[in-house]
Amino acid sequence: MTEFDPRPALDELRQLETLEALEQWRVKHLGDKSALRAALGGLGQLPPEQRREAGQRLNAARQQLQEAHDARKAELTEKTVAQQLERERIDVTLPGRPIARGCSHPTIAVIQEISDLFRRIGFQIIEGPEVEWERYNFTKLGIPPEHPARDLTDTFWITDKMLLRTHTSPNQIRAMERVGKPPIRVLVPGRCYRNEATDASHESIFFQIEGLMVDDRTTMSDMMGVLTYMARGLFGQQARTRFRCDYFPFVEPGAEMSVSCGQCSGGGCRMCKYTGWLEILGCGMVHPDVLRGVNIDPARYSGWAFGLGVERIAILKYGVDDIRLFQQNDMRFLRQLG
Ligand code: PHE
Repeated sequence: MTEFDPRPALDELRQLETLEALEQWRVKHLGDKSALRAALGGLGQLPPEQRREAGQRLNAARQQLQEAHDARKAELTEKTVAQQLERERIDVTLPGRPIARGCSHPTIAVIQEISDLFRRIGFQIIEGPEVEWERYNFTKLGIPPEHPARDLTDTFWITDKMLLRTHTSPNQIRAMERVGKPPIRVLVPGRCYRNEATDASHESIFFQIEGLMVDDRTTMSDMMGVLTYMARGLFGQQARTRFRCDYFPFVEPGAEMSVSCGQCSGGGCRMCKYTGWLEILGCGMVHPDVLRGVNIDPARYSGWAFGLGVERIAILKYGVDDIRLFQQNDMRFLRQLG
C-alpha cells in the first residue's frame, strides 16, 4: 500500500509536448488524488519501525517527480515562447500601409477654382441660406405670385412663405440689401433644390454659383469680359464665348453664355449636340425694378449678374456623363480627381 514506483510517471512525462498536458500530468501524479498522495496517506498504518524508511522513500520519489516536472515545465515554456515568437514575427522591413489621402469632391473643386478666379479680380465669396423666403427667391426678383416663371421650376415648399431655394439668385437681393451702397462685387456658391424628376442631366439637388457686380458705371461689356475671363480660366485660353439673348425676369437685357466645345473645338460632336457650343450660364444686366426694390437708384448705378450650374461645369471639364454621380458618393467616382 505504501509501495510507489515513480518510473511509469517519469516515462509518461517524457512524452508530453504541451504545457496543458503537463498540468494534467501534475494533477494526476502529484495532486491530492494521486497514487503518491495515497501512499503517503497510508504511512500512518505502517508499524512505527517501518514508517521512517517508507516515508523517506516516498518523499524522495515525490521530490524526483517534482523536479522532473519543473525541468520539463521550463523546457516546454521555453519551447512555447519560441513558437509564439516565431508565429508573431514582425517583418520590420515591410513597407507601411499608406494613410489614405482625402480628395476634393469634383463639385467643390469647381467651386474653388471659380472662387479663385473671382477673388483675383476683387470679388468677395459669400453664402446665403438654403431655406429661403419665397419673397427673396421670387418676388423681389421680379417674379410675383402668379408669374409664369414660378412654374419654370417646381419648388420644394416648406410653408406657404418658405421654400428650398431654386437658384442662388436670392443672394443678389441679400447682398444689395446688406451692402446698401455700391460698389458690390460678390460670388455666392451654394446648393439649390428643384422638385423635378431626375435623369442623366437633371438632379433635384445641385449647386449654383451666383455672381453680382453693381457699380456706378459697370456695363454689359464688363460682364462679357469678366465671364470670358472665367471661361478661359476654366477651360483654357483657347476657349471662346458666345452670348445670346435669353429671358430671366430679374435681368434686362438677359443672355445665356456658351463656350466653344473643347471636345471638338467647334467642329461638332455629341457633347455639344453638333453645335460647337456649350451653354454654361444665364446672365444679364440687373433689372432696374430689382435695383429700385433694394433702394439702389438705377439712374445712378448699374449692375450685372450671372448664375451657373456647378455640376454642368464639372461635367464638361471632367467628361462626366451623368449628373446623378455627384450626389451618390461612390468613392471610385470621387477619387478620380485626386
Ligand atoms: N437664376 C438663374 C437660373 O437659375 C440664372 C441667372 C442668374 C440668370 C443671374 C441671370 C442672372 O437659371
